[in-house]
Amino acid sequence: MTVQDSVAVQALAARLSPEFKLGVASAAFQIEGSLAAGGRGPSGWDAFAEKPGSIRDGHSPAVACDHYNRSPEDIELMRTLGIDSYRFSISWPRIQPDGTGPFNTVGLDFYDRLIDRLLAAGISPMATLYHWDTPLPLEHRGGWLNRSTAERFAEYSAAAGERFGDRVAQWVTLNEPASVTLNGYALGVHAPGRDLLFNALPSVHHQLLGHGLAVQALRAAGVSGAVGVTNLHSPVRPASRSVTDRFLANIFDLVLNRVYADPILLGSYPKVPLPAKPWFRSLGKITDADLRTIHQPLDFYGLNYYYPVKVATGAGRGESPVGTAGAMLKMPFHMAAFPEYATTGFGWPVAPDHLGPLLRELKDRYRGALPPLYITESGASFPEPDHVSGPIADTERISYIASHLGHALDATAPGGIAEDVELLGYYVWTLMDNFEWAAGYSQRFGLVHVDFDTQARTPKDSYYWYQALSRARKG
Ligand code: NOJ
Repeated sequence: MTVQDSVAVQALAARLSPEFKLGVASAAFQIEGSLAAGGRGPSGWDAFAEKPGSIRDGHSPAVACDHYNRSPEDIELMRTLGIDSYRFSISWPRIQPDGTGPFNTVGLDFYDRLIDRLLAAGISPMATLYHWDTPLPLEHRGGWLNRSTAERFAEYSAAAGERFGDRVAQWVTLNEPASVTLNGYALGVHAPGRDLLFNALPSVHHQLLGHGLAVQALRAAGVSGAVGVTNLHSPVRPASRSVTDRFLANIFDLVLNRVYADPILLGSYPKVPLPAKPWFRSLGKITDADLRTIHQPLDFYGLNYYYPVKVATGAGRGESPVGTAGAMLKMPFHMAAFPEYATTGFGWPVAPDHLGPLLRELKDRYRGALPPLYITESGASFPEPDHVSGPIADTERISYIASHLGHALDATAPGGIAEDVELLGYYVWTLMDNFEWAAGYSQRFGLVHVDFDTQARTPKDSYYWYQALSRARKG
């Protein structure tokens, strides 16, 4: 690290309060592998990944990072990294193979050991209950299109709460329900591969019900940790001031952001403009009792921020890789490019300057209803080699993390544009390169390089940079 780098690290560290949590995040299906080991049942993602053409280059999640067998080594990497907290997900089909009925002791024991080892390493566990791996038997019954999945999810959450509730510091019910609905049920590019467009909307309501019931179940189980949820938020901007661009941007903001956040935080769905009402028909009849269930008091709100979207009138041009899925091309709008920004390996715009306004927007929309907030995911993939012989110089990732964290701190500092947002922590997506869903192993987001032929872990420069940041604040 150059002298300037270390000065910048010191300056950033000096801005973090002693309580601020620095962490890394992951998800079971992306790292564990061992899909049939120890009594784990299949998930919708296991089945989806087997369908030819669903995963780039036919990559398989069967081994992923082999974390199921290597978790002690991975915890050691985190201990050396110096983070305060690790956000991981519990695989529902590993602890309840059919999604209903008996729980699996071997699966429960795996997470018991993981949590105990984290605590022994001085790392506080943040557990996500649902990071997309729906047990396959439930997916066969419609998955989140079926209301009873919400009740099944609550049952599983209760069991997790009872078993791990004395040691988990933060619970996240759902991860990015927007991605599940959009990619999984509306566009068909993720499991379960349905392309229902607006008819995917029942999966919104049922996930939200699942969230509310899970919060109740965790509280009833007497968990000692904080309880919250993680939503993806992408600030949506119209490509021009034209009436149609603004109208369509508003619709996109509704389906991407507000149909999730509004019921959770305000207890009501957002108002849909009249001309768009037919699109939202499938949301069905929503009862007040459902809304009360969804609107549970939360201890924190988890924000995943990756990129802003710009919406333009006109079907199918797909200027931006965000939203070029086949089904999307049927819609009367498309995602326009942001030519002013550099892009990641995925082609996503690197736009840290949208993070402050996003935090401000959240505070304006939800005011007193917005709980203290964690950025539960922030990170980027860049083209990197499959095999390395030492730390790679991933300077783009370092500047990505430094600028996003910096903008979040600027915005929430006294006098900042979102000064009344209480920001509790920042989690880098992700500890190590892993199975990036439909993109297979082609998108490397990790602070640690993984060689998927040998499973060798090699920390990248960004790992040492994040380590320097956490060391600098501990003095
Ligand atoms: C958000 C998801 O939660 C995570 O699973 C995924 O890998 C990252 N986005 C990057 O696409």
